[in-house]
Amino acid sequence: MPDIDECYMVVLRLVKEAGSIVREKINQPKDAMTKSCEVDLVTEWDQKVEKLLIDGISSKFPDHKFIGEEGSSLGIKVELTDAPTWIIDPIDGTMNFVHSLPHTCISIALVINKVTEIGVVYNPILEQFFTARRGQGAFLNGAPISVSREKELRKALVMMEMGTSRDPEKMKVVLENANNLTPQVHGIRSLGSAALNMCMVALGGADVSFEFGIHAWDVAAGDIIVREAGGVCIDPAGGPFDLMSRRVLCASTMELAQELAAILVQYYPERD
Ligand code: IPD
Repeated sequence: MPDIDECYMVVLRLVKEAGSIVREKINQPKDAMTKSCEVDLVTEWDQKVEKLLIDGISSKFPDHKFIGEEGSSLGIKVELTDAPTWIIDPIDGTMNFVHSLPHTCISIALVINKVTEIGVVYNPILEQFFTARRGQGAFLNGAPISVSREKELRKALVMMEMGTSRDPEKMKVVLENANNLTPQVHGIRSLGSAALNMCMVALGGADVSFEFGIHAWDVAAGDIIVREAGGVCIDPAGGPFDLMSRRVLCASTMELAQELAAILVQYYPERD
Protein backbone atom coordinates (compact mmCIF):
# COMPACT_ATOMS: atom_id res chain seq x y z
CA MET A 1 0.00 0.00 0.00
CA PRO A 2 1.59 3.32 -1.01
CA ASP A 3 1.79 6.25 1.39
CA ILE A 4 -1.49 8.04 0.56
CA ASP A 5 -0.30 11.30 2.16
CA GLU A 6 2.67 11.32 -0.19
CA CYS A 7 0.49 10.43 -3.19
CA TYR A 8 -1.82 13.30 -2.28
CA MET A 9 0.99 15.86 -1.98
CA VAL A 10 2.47 14.75 -5.32
CA VAL A 11 -0.84 14.89 -7.18
CA LEU A 12 -1.76 18.31 -5.77
CA ARG A 13 1.53 19.76 -7.01
CA LEU A 14 1.22 18.18 -10.46
CA VAL A 15 -2.43 19.17 -10.94
CA LYS A 16 -1.57 22.80 -10.09
CA GLU A 17 1.24 22.69 -12.64
CA ALA A 18 -1.12 21.17 -15.22
CA GLY A 19 -3.67 23.87 -14.38
CA SER A 20 -1.26 26.62 -15.35
CA ILE A 21 -0.95 25.09 -18.84
CA VAL A 22 -4.75 24.97 -19.26
CA ARG A 23 -5.07 28.55 -17.95
CA GLU A 24 -2.36 29.84 -20.27
CA LYS A 25 -3.73 28.08 -23.38
CA ILE A 26 -7.51 28.40 -23.04
CA ASN A 27 -7.79 31.75 -24.82
CA GLN A 28 -5.23 30.95 -27.50
CA PRO A 29 -6.10 29.48 -30.90
CA LYS A 30 -5.73 25.70 -30.91
CA ASP A 31 -6.04 22.90 -33.41
CA ALA A 32 -8.56 20.27 -32.36
CA MET A 33 -8.38 16.73 -33.67
CA THR A 34 -11.32 14.33 -33.58
CA LYS A 35 -11.50 10.95 -31.82
CA SER A 36 -14.60 8.70 -31.84
CA CYS A 37 -16.66 11.21 -33.86
CA GLU A 38 -16.55 14.79 -35.08
CA VAL A 39 -17.65 16.24 -31.73
CA ASP A 40 -15.26 14.14 -29.62
CA LEU A 41 -12.21 16.41 -29.60
CA VAL A 42 -8.62 16.30 -28.43
CA THR A 43 -5.93 18.98 -28.55
CA GLU A 44 -2.17 18.81 -28.16
CA TRP A 45 -2.74 20.26 -24.67
CA ASP A 46 -4.85 17.28 -23.56
CA GLN A 47 -1.92 15.09 -24.58
CA LYS A 48 0.73 17.33 -22.96
CA VAL A 49 -1.17 17.61 -19.67
CA GLU A 50 -1.67 13.82 -19.53
CA LYS A 51 2.06 13.29 -20.16
CA LEU A 52 2.99 15.82 -17.45
CA LEU A 53 0.79 14.00 -14.92
CA ILE A 54 1.92 10.50 -15.87
CA ASP A 55 5.63 11.41 -16.00
CA GLY A 56 5.44 13.26 -12.68
CA ILE A 57 3.62 10.42 -10.89
CA SER A 58 5.79 7.69 -12.46
CA SER A 59 8.99 9.41 -11.35
CA LYS A 60 7.79 9.17 -7.71
CA PHE A 61 5.86 5.90 -7.90
CA PRO A 62 7.36 3.79 -10.71
CA ASP A 63 5.10 0.77 -10.11
CA HIS A 64 1.81 2.70 -10.28
CA LYS A 65 -0.50 2.12 -13.25
CA PHE A 66 -2.53 4.58 -15.32
CA ILE A 67 -5.83 4.74 -17.11
CA GLY A 68 -5.70 7.97 -19.08
CA GLU A 69 -8.14 9.38 -21.59
CA GLU A 70 -5.58 10.20 -24.23
CA GLY A 71 -3.51 7.01 -23.86
CA SER A 72 -6.73 5.01 -24.11
CA SER A 73 -7.79 6.79 -27.29
CA LEU A 74 -4.50 5.64 -28.87
CA GLY A 75 -5.67 2.08 -28.39
CA ILE A 76 -3.98 1.24 -25.05
CA LYS A 77 -6.26 -1.29 -23.35
CA VAL A 78 -8.15 -0.01 -20.32
CA GLU A 79 -7.72 -2.44 -17.44
CA LEU A 80 -8.46 -1.78 -13.79
CA THR A 81 -6.51 -4.18 -11.56
CA ASP A 82 -5.91 -4.12 -7.78
CA ALA A 83 -2.64 -2.23 -8.31
CA PRO A 84 -2.49 1.48 -7.42
CA THR A 85 -3.98 3.07 -10.55
CA TRP A 86 -4.31 6.73 -11.43
CA ILE A 87 -7.37 7.45 -13.58
CA ILE A 88 -6.78 10.66 -15.52
CA ASP A 89 -8.79 13.02 -17.66
CA PRO A 90 -6.18 15.68 -18.47
CA ILE A 91 -8.82 18.11 -19.78
CA ASP A 92 -12.44 17.24 -19.03
CA GLY A 93 -14.58 19.58 -21.09
CA THR A 94 -12.23 19.59 -24.07
CA MET A 95 -14.99 21.08 -26.25
CA ASN A 96 -15.28 23.98 -23.80
CA PHE A 97 -11.48 24.36 -23.75
CA VAL A 98 -11.44 24.51 -27.56
CA HIS A 99 -14.13 27.21 -27.49
CA SER A 100 -12.55 29.11 -24.54
CA LEU A 101 -15.65 28.45 -22.39
CA PRO A 102 -14.26 28.53 -18.86
CA HIS A 103 -15.87 25.27 -17.61
CA THR A 104 -12.99 22.90 -18.09
CA CYS A 105 -10.90 20.97 -15.62
CA ILE A 106 -8.26 18.40 -14.84
CA SER A 107 -9.75 15.29 -13.23
CA ILE A 108 -7.64 12.63 -11.53
CA ALA A 109 -8.28 9.82 -9.05
CA LEU A 110 -6.14 7.21 -7.31
CA VAL A 111 -7.78 3.78 -7.07
CA ILE A 112 -6.18 0.97 -5.01
CA ASN A 113 -7.72 -2.51 -4.78
CA LYS A 114 -10.58 -1.01 -6.79
CA VAL A 115 -11.32 1.47 -3.98
CA THR A 116 -10.89 5.17 -4.73
CA GLU A 117 -8.55 6.86 -2.23
CA ILE A 118 -8.07 10.32 -3.75
CA GLY A 119 -10.06 12.52 -6.15
CA VAL A 120 -8.99 15.91 -7.48
CA VAL A 121 -10.92 18.08 -9.95
CA TYR A 122 -9.33 21.44 -10.80
CA ASN A 123 -10.88 24.18 -12.92
CA PRO A 124 -7.90 26.56 -13.21
CA ILE A 125 -9.88 29.21 -15.08
CA LEU A 126 -12.43 29.77 -12.32
CA GLU A 127 -9.96 28.66 -9.62
CA GLN A 128 -12.16 25.83 -8.35
CA PHE A 129 -9.99 23.17 -6.72
CA PHE A 130 -12.13 20.23 -5.56
CA THR A 131 -10.44 17.55 -3.47
CA ALA A 132 -11.45 14.45 -1.54
CA ARG A 133 -9.70 11.63 0.27
CA ARG A 134 -11.46 8.48 1.44
CA GLY A 135 -13.03 9.07 4.86
CA GLN A 136 -11.81 12.67 5.11
CA GLY A 137 -14.56 14.75 3.48
CA ALA A 138 -14.67 16.86 0.34
CA PHE A 139 -13.31 20.37 -0.12
CA LEU A 140 -13.45 23.32 -2.50
CA ASN A 141 -10.29 25.42 -2.31
CA GLY A 142 -9.61 23.90 1.11
CA ALA A 143 -13.06 24.64 2.61
CA PRO A 144 -15.41 21.71 3.41
CA ILE A 145 -18.36 21.24 1.05
CA SER A 146 -21.54 19.23 1.30
CA VAL A 147 -24.41 18.15 -0.91
CA SER A 148 -27.81 19.86 -0.78
CA ARG A 149 -29.71 17.02 0.99
CA GLU A 150 -32.60 17.45 -1.51
CA LYS A 151 -34.75 14.30 -1.59
CA GLU A 152 -37.47 15.16 -4.12
CA LEU A 153 -37.04 15.13 -7.87
CA ARG A 154 -39.71 17.78 -8.37
CA LYS A 155 -37.50 20.27 -6.46
CA ALA A 156 -34.21 19.14 -7.99
CA LEU A 157 -31.78 20.96 -10.26
CA VAL A 158 -30.54 18.24 -12.62
CA MET A 159 -27.21 18.13 -14.48
CA MET A 160 -27.23 16.14 -17.70
CA GLU A 161 -25.24 16.20 -20.95
CA MET A 162 -25.82 15.61 -24.64
CA GLY A 163 -22.45 13.80 -24.58
CA THR A 164 -19.86 13.41 -27.28
CA SER A 165 -21.54 10.65 -29.30
CA ARG A 166 -23.66 11.21 -32.37
CA ASP A 167 -24.94 7.65 -32.36
CA PRO A 168 -28.67 8.05 -33.19
CA GLU A 169 -29.80 5.49 -30.59
CA LYS A 170 -27.80 7.25 -27.83
CA MET A 171 -29.06 10.70 -28.89
CA LYS A 172 -32.66 9.45 -28.88
CA VAL A 173 -32.30 8.30 -25.26
CA VAL A 174 -30.69 11.60 -24.20
CA LEU A 175 -33.45 13.64 -25.82
CA GLU A 176 -36.20 11.41 -24.43
CA ASN A 177 -34.81 11.87 -20.94
CA ALA A 178 -34.52 15.64 -21.37
CA ASN A 179 -38.06 15.74 -22.70
CA ASN A 180 -39.51 13.60 -19.89
CA LEU A 181 -37.59 15.32 -17.11
CA THR A 182 -38.04 18.97 -18.02
CA PRO A 183 -41.65 19.27 -16.76
CA GLN A 184 -40.90 17.20 -13.64
CA VAL A 185 -37.90 19.04 -12.14
CA HIS A 186 -36.83 22.56 -11.15
CA GLY A 187 -34.41 22.76 -14.07
CA ILE A 188 -31.83 21.06 -16.24
CA ARG A 189 -28.24 22.29 -16.63
CA SER A 190 -25.09 21.15 -18.49
CA LEU A 191 -21.59 22.47 -17.84
CA GLY A 192 -20.00 20.40 -20.63
CA SER A 193 -17.75 18.54 -18.19
CA ALA A 194 -18.97 15.41 -16.44
CA ALA A 195 -16.46 15.95 -13.62
CA LEU A 196 -17.60 19.54 -13.00
CA ASN A 197 -21.28 18.51 -13.17
CA MET A 198 -20.58 15.99 -10.40
CA CYS A 199 -18.66 18.59 -8.38
CA MET A 200 -21.71 20.87 -8.57
CA VAL A 201 -23.69 18.10 -6.84
CA ALA A 202 -20.91 17.78 -4.23
CA LEU A 203 -21.05 21.54 -3.69
CA GLY A 204 -24.83 21.59 -3.26
CA GLY A 205 -25.26 23.83 -6.32
CA ALA A 206 -27.08 21.06 -8.18
CA ASP A 207 -28.94 18.09 -6.72
CA VAL A 208 -28.36 15.27 -9.17
CA SER A 209 -26.24 14.50 -12.24
CA PHE A 210 -26.42 11.58 -14.65
CA GLU A 211 -24.89 10.54 -17.94
CA PHE A 212 -24.60 7.51 -20.20
CA GLY A 213 -21.46 7.04 -22.32
CA ILE A 214 -18.94 8.73 -20.02
CA HIS A 215 -15.65 6.93 -19.36
CA ALA A 216 -13.93 6.01 -16.09
CA TRP A 217 -11.66 9.08 -16.38
CA ASP A 218 -14.65 11.44 -16.59
CA VAL A 219 -16.18 10.25 -13.30
CA ALA A 220 -13.57 8.55 -11.06
CA ALA A 221 -12.63 11.73 -9.18
CA GLY A 222 -16.19 13.12 -9.16
CA ASP A 223 -17.49 9.90 -7.58
CA ILE A 224 -15.34 10.17 -4.43
CA ILE A 225 -15.84 13.95 -4.22
CA VAL A 226 -19.65 13.52 -4.24
CA ARG A 227 -19.59 10.65 -1.73
CA GLU A 228 -17.20 12.47 0.61
CA ALA A 229 -19.51 15.50 0.40
CA GLY A 230 -22.31 13.28 1.78
CA GLY A 231 -23.95 12.30 -1.51
CA VAL A 232 -24.37 9.02 -3.35
CA CYS A 233 -23.16 7.62 -6.63
CA ILE A 234 -25.10 4.74 -8.23
CA ASP A 235 -25.78 3.09 -11.57
CA PRO A 236 -28.52 5.03 -13.43
CA ALA A 237 -30.76 1.94 -13.24
CA GLY A 238 -30.55 2.00 -9.43
CA GLY A 239 -27.85 -0.61 -8.69
CA PRO A 240 -24.32 -0.05 -7.41
CA PHE A 241 -22.00 2.33 -9.29
CA ASP A 242 -19.55 0.52 -11.59
CA LEU A 243 -16.59 2.70 -12.58
CA MET A 244 -16.02 0.84 -15.84
CA SER A 245 -19.67 0.68 -16.97
CA ARG A 246 -19.74 4.11 -18.68
CA ARG A 247 -22.91 4.96 -16.72
CA VAL A 248 -23.23 7.30 -13.73
CA LEU A 249 -25.86 8.90 -11.53
CA CYS A 250 -24.84 10.90 -8.48
CA ALA A 251 -27.14 12.76 -6.15
CA SER A 252 -27.49 14.59 -2.87
CA THR A 253 -29.50 11.72 -1.36
CA MET A 254 -30.27 8.06 -2.12
CA GLU A 255 -34.01 8.90 -2.21
CA LEU A 256 -33.46 11.40 -5.02
CA ALA A 257 -31.05 9.08 -6.87
CA GLN A 258 -33.54 6.20 -6.81
CA GLU A 259 -36.50 8.41 -7.79
CA LEU A 260 -34.62 9.54 -10.89
CA ALA A 261 -33.27 6.05 -11.69
CA ALA A 262 -36.82 4.68 -11.69
CA ILE A 263 -37.96 6.98 -14.50
CA LEU A 264 -34.85 7.26 -16.70
CA VAL A 265 -34.85 5.74 -20.16
CA GLN A 266 -31.74 3.54 -19.97
CA TYR A 267 -28.79 3.21 -22.33
CA TYR A 268 -26.02 0.63 -22.04
CA PRO A 269 -22.83 1.59 -23.92
CA GLU A 270 -19.98 -0.84 -24.45
CA ARG A 271 -17.97 -1.00 -21.20
CA ASP A 272 -14.55 0.58 -20.75
C1 IPD B 1 -16.53 14.77 -22.00
C2 IPD B 1 -17.21 15.76 -21.09
C3 IPD B 1 -18.66 15.92 -21.49
C4 IPD B 1 -19.39 14.62 -21.44
C5 IPD B 1 -18.69 13.58 -22.29
C6 IPD B 1 -17.23 13.46 -21.91
P1 IPD B 1 -13.90 15.16 -22.46
O1 IPD B 1 -15.18 14.58 -21.61
O2 IPD B 1 -17.13 15.33 -19.75
O3 IPD B 1 -19.33 16.78 -20.63
O4 IPD B 1 -20.69 14.79 -21.91
O5 IPD B 1 -19.36 12.35 -22.11
O6 IPD B 1 -16.60 12.54 -22.76
O7 IPD B 1 -13.92 14.47 -23.78
O8 IPD B 1 -14.08 16.63 -22.58
O9 IPD B 1 -12.74 14.77 -21.62
